[in-house]
Amino acid sequence: MTEGISVADSAAGGGGAAHQRDAESERVYAELDRLWARGRQVLGCDLAIMGGAMTWVSERNLVAAISKAGGFGVIASGSMSPHLLSREIRATQAMTTRPFGVNLITLHPELLELIDVCADHHVGHVVLAGGLPSNAAVSRIKRSGARVFCFAPAVGFARKLVRMGVDAIVIEGNEAGGHIGPVSTGVLAQEILPHLTSVPVFVAGGIGRGEAMLAYLEMGASGVQLGTRFVCAHESIAHPRFKRAFICAAARDAVASVQLDPRFPVIPVRALNNPTTERFVAVQRRVIDRFTRGELSQKAAQLEIEHFWAGALRRAVIDGDIESGSLMAGQSVGFVTREQSTAEILEELVGQALAALTARGERSCRRTPRSAPTSLGRQGARG
Ligand SMILES: Cc1cc2nc3c(=O)[nH]c(=O)nc-3n(C[C@H](O)[C@H](O)[C@H](O)COP(=O)(O)O)c2cc1C
Repeated sequence: MTEGISVADSAAGGGGAAHQRDAESERVYAELDRLWARGRQVLGCDLAIMGGAMTWVSERNLVAAISKAGGFGVIASGSMSPHLLSREIRATQAMTTRPFGVNLITLHPELLELIDVCADHHVGHVVLAGGLPSNAAVSRIKRSGARVFCFAPAVGFARKLVRMGVDAIVIEGNEAGGHIGPVSTGVLAQEILPHLTSVPVFVAGGIGRGEAMLAYLEMGASGVQLGTRFVCAHESIAHPRFKRAFICAAARDAVASVQLDPRFPVIPVRALNNPTTERFVAVQRRVIDRFTRGELSQKAAQLEIEHFWAGALRRAVIDGDIESGSLMAGQSVGFVTREQSTAEILEELVGQALAALTARGERSCRRTPRSAPTSLGRQGARG
């Protein structure tokens, strides 16, 4: 995808085959540009497709590749100190002049320092994840001139964020990889999109093909965010064994973590099933038994459960330990069938959306003005 232009411009201005596109192609390209115009505007890129930040995966190489291909890359800072984040931003800026963002976790002990690092490097977009941010965090980012994006699990929460000055909302359904909420993307989209129109909303979770992306845009989303589909990009530094596990997995292999006892909450995470997923259940059972026998305090038991996965994502992504690491993945893993370049993944998504729009145009052309009324129409006539 050519840098700095819309899909319609690229259709009209490209050489060779692009010149031969007929009026119908121009129409569907323009339609897609219309649907995600607001998303492109707030992101400042060609395609309103965000590469969701993935700890250990979303570093300079993948982020720059997504932005260079016309999407919007986001650095995951979950594992970074302010010094490391500063290095990563600088390295990414050296690889692309296109806009990209930084994802910050609101619970990070050095959140304000990380915000300052983003400001020092003139990062244009900061995505806050991990719960309701403080007013101080939001206003500090806004003072730097950057746009603030935040995750919202419900419409009331989203409205509160808008009142705090947030520029865009991301809604992420339960199908997503990594930390998840309880509600599916389809239901969240229906709950939030019709009622939140004052800021752009991006939909994430379970999007594997362009038709799904198009459906959310038509429901009112300004853009989408995908994580799982980018893990096996050529430019992703994820270990070959981590990528292989994704390529071999089906949607049903990406399961949510199991909590055995409500007294010992487990933060829900969606990841590929592996021997450690099973061991986690056994460990919870053993810890709860020790608590019941009075051998552990509630706090000590909770900590033991929480520490189980410490360092596990790094072990899987970087070291390739797919047996004992955490293979965070969304259900869209079923659409990951091979390694591809980032540009190819984005082109595929856009192509599928355009093909769906074209097919719809063809269907409506085939319909004659005297076509049979729908069953609803017939009922209406009777009533
Ligand atoms: C391996 C992995 C790590 C992730 N790490 C983070 C993270 O650090 N911060 C965050 O906000 N979201 C994280 N996510 C969620 C993604 O940013 C994105 O929202 C999600 O993957 C979208 O759903 P999808 O996987 O169905 O495409 C992670 C997802 C995966 C698969």
